[in-house]
Amino acid sequence: MKKTLSSRIILLIAVVLLISNSLLCVVSIIFSRATIKKNIQKRMLDIANCASGSINGDALASLTAEDVGSQEYLKIYDTLNIFRNNAEVEYVYSIKSEGRGVFVFTIDTDPDAPAAYGDRVEYTDALNTAAHGTGAVDDVPYEDSWGRFFSAYSPVFDSSGDVAGIIAVDFPEEWFDQQLVSETIRNISIFSAILLGTLIISIFVSFSVVNDITQPLKRMTDIAQKYREGIFSEKMDVGGSVEIAGLSEALSGMAESLQDKMAILQSIQVTLSEEVEHKTSENEMLMVQIVQALADAIDAKDVYTKGHSGRVAEYSREIAKRYGYSEKKQDEIYVTALLHDVGKIGVPDEVINKPSKLTDEEFALIKAHPKLGADILDNIHSMPNLKAGARYHHERFGGGGYPDGISGKDIPEQARIIAVADAYDAMSSNRSYRKALPQSTVRSEIEKGKGTQFDPVFADIMLSMIDEDKDYNMREKDD
Ligand SMILES: [Fe+2]
Repeated sequence: MKKTLSSRIILLIAVVLLISNSLLCVVSIIFSRATIKKNIQKRMLDIANCASGSINGDALASLTAEDVGSQEYLKIYDTLNIFRNNAEVEYVYSIKSEGRGVFVFTIDTDPDAPAAYGDRVEYTDALNTAAHGTGAVDDVPYEDSWGRFFSAYSPVFDSSGDVAGIIAVDFPEEWFDQQLVSETIRNISIFSAILLGTLIISIFVSFSVVNDITQPLKRMTDIAQKYREGIFSEKMDVGGSVEIAGLSEALSGMAESLQDKMAILQSIQVTLSEEVEHKTSENEMLMVQIVQALADAIDAKDVYTKGHSGRVAEYSREIAKRYGYSEKKQDEIYVTALLHDVGKIGVPDEVINKPSKLTDEEFALIKAHPKLGADILDNIHSMPNLKAGARYHHERFGGGGYPDGISGKDIPEQARIIAVADAYDAMSSNRSYRKALPQSTVRSEIEKGKGTQFDPVFADIMLSMIDEDKDYNMREKDD
């Protein structure tokens, strides 16, 4: 599934926030551990200093093993005990240095298992520092018979300013660790809450920012889709940021320019089609005129058949029309019929016009005109049906015609139509040897030839045309 721009941006923000917050949290915990430790140590030293400040240095300095339990001893003991009871410390006691790094207990306030006067105290660097007059706290825990501790040591001074003893306060290691752990947990909780809050705010903010980008883009896509379908009615005015507005303006300009160019193309197309139509009709007219002139030239060879081709063409077109041919096919048969006798160009004029009976050779010349005509028209490739009219118009439906002697539906339809029209015109026109035959004779000849000489379908159409022609107008007119 493809990710949307908004989901990508929000995911990116979430990942960046998570990583940066986690790093911040870890760094902060590391630093805060050191700070927490210092703070705890400072608090421990404060308590030790407070306790040491409450003790009379001269009294502490004069205490010996024999003084244990004396009034002076108990006075100091009670003071130290107050700190043990009220502060977070585990043990509070006083120490004195025996020299050469040896330290011993003088007073221990532990109620359960107190150390005796003179018992050895565990040496630490901090204790040694305090013995030289500066309070200090253990940096690492030490272990003695009471457990593992961090201790704070504070010196007590006598009236002459010498160190009279050291007050120590012990904090168990577990307490110290627990302080660190709870502080760390608190920090992690705060960081998690901040992370969650930042995430929620960021997602809301980025949703709004991303919407400002994606909404105009979506609208631009919809409008561009319409442009693609050719609908330019809608303007690409989608608003949004400066960049988006710039893009939409550019696309809008592109669409307008496209629209202008399309209008120009359409107008060129209209002009061109009009031109083509005009030229085509001119060409067709020219062709018909040329064919007409050619037909006149053929007819002119025979002094008695003037206008024959033109009339056969008219009759053929009428038969085709009544039979149900389209206008285009009617025009085609008209031209075909105009040229049906084109082969007569190759027959000598004296043979065509001979008033007396023809010799066998002369008749053979006449009978050659269909084939000759087809050969001439064979070169007109754009109208392949032209030659069929010329070649087969003397074939007979019942067989026995010429030049091929074919019959029935083997004779092309146009030739069967022309055959009827040709015979009708021959009978209804004047000839060198006779006048035009009476209409009734023509009619009965066509009727007689149905199925033998003519296709009965086209013969019937011709008969209906004769029957409608009450005044016998459909024939060669006398000049
Ligand atoms: Fe003919």
